[in-house]
Amino acid sequence: MSMVSCLVVLVVSVAVATAVGSVNSSRFDELFQPTWALDHFTYDGELLQMKLDNYSGAGFSSKSKYMYGKVTTQIKLVEGDSAGTVTAFYMSSEGPNHNEFDFEFLGNTTGEPYLVQTNVYVNGVGNREQRLNLWFDPTKDFHSYSLLWNQRQVVFLVDDTPIRVHSNLEHRGIPYPKNQPMGVYSSIWNADDWATQGGRVKTDWTHAPFVASYKGFQIDACACPSTVAAAENARRCSSTAEKRYWWDEPTVSELSLHQSHQLLWVRAKHMVYDYCSDATRFSVTPMECQHHRH
Ligand SMILES: *[C@@H]1O[C@H](CO)[C@@H](O)[C@H](O)[C@H]1NC(C)=O
Ligand SMILES: *[C@@H]1O[C@H](CO)[C@@H](O)[C@H](O)[C@H]1NC(C)=O
Ligand SMILES: *[C@@H]1O[C@H](CO)[C@@H](O)[C@H](O)[C@H]1NC(C)=O
Repeated sequence: MSMVSCLVVLVVSVAVATAVGSVNSSRFDELFQPTWALDHFTYDGELLQMKLDNYSGAGFSSKSKYMYGKVTTQIKLVEGDSAGTVTAFYMSSEGPNHNEFDFEFLGNTTGEPYLVQTNVYVNGVGNREQRLNLWFDPTKDFHSYSLLWNQRQVVFLVDDTPIRVHSNLEHRGIPYPKNQPMGVYSSIWNADDWATQGGRVKTDWTHAPFVASYKGFQIDACACPSTVAAAENARRCSSTAEKRYWWDEPTVSELSLHQSHQLLWVRAKHMVYDYCSDATRFSVTPMECQHHRH
């Protein structure tokens, strides 16, 4: 590479990294606040733990709302008997036409595998569940769970391996979630009416408290002041000729070839349920399933 092209690359990467409005932090207390059952939290400046017992679950939310970017947290799920419990990590906007991108970790009896359920709500409508098991035991170590969101796709990632893509198919008349700022949330609660083996296995409270552990919070996204209208935030958070945001770069507009292969592997080896192929539930295949490449 010549000196001249080196310099150009350097200048471009600096301009992307310092885009106005983008936040990038890792401390829980800078980014988030407990919103449910403060007395069910412990936090030592790095490790955060939330517990569920027969009195309460717990939850936290981001202090800001965001449009586009990537949010990641490392989670170590409830060890041992976690049957009946659900731990969720998700982004959501507010109101009756809200959008939402969900990771829900469904606990199990000791030694049996967790299920990861993902869902996407667009304009208040969900019913887009997918379920998979993981290629590791998520209770033994911390693993990173991320949501990447831009105007082209929403990607769910586990240790940077894509497990789900929801593509923008607006050109086919299918609504895509892109105009509402979203908060980042997590919670743990009792869902023994449905979560484990279809609700047959109930929470065994003698094994409480059920503890989910977190660290390594990362939000690299465009913060949206609540005083600014959604449309104005969408404009602020989109790239222009003068300011380029990394989430609008072609490299994150679609999966790389390597990532596509990873996703195919996950779907072939680990997926146990996909709403797209549930003919008993949907007599007509949902529109986006007919067009999704994945
Ligand atoms: C945000 O932080 C991550 C991890 O430290 C880093 O890889 C990324 O380049 C940062 N992004 C920006 C826009 O500064
Ligand atoms: C729990 O384990 C059983 C038996 O291996 C499995 O069928 C089920 O999918 C697992 N997960 C949940 C959430 O029930
Ligand atoms: C919660 O569980 C503990 C231990 O099993 C028990 O002693 C207590 O009575 C329970 N409390 C409620 C409100 O159910």
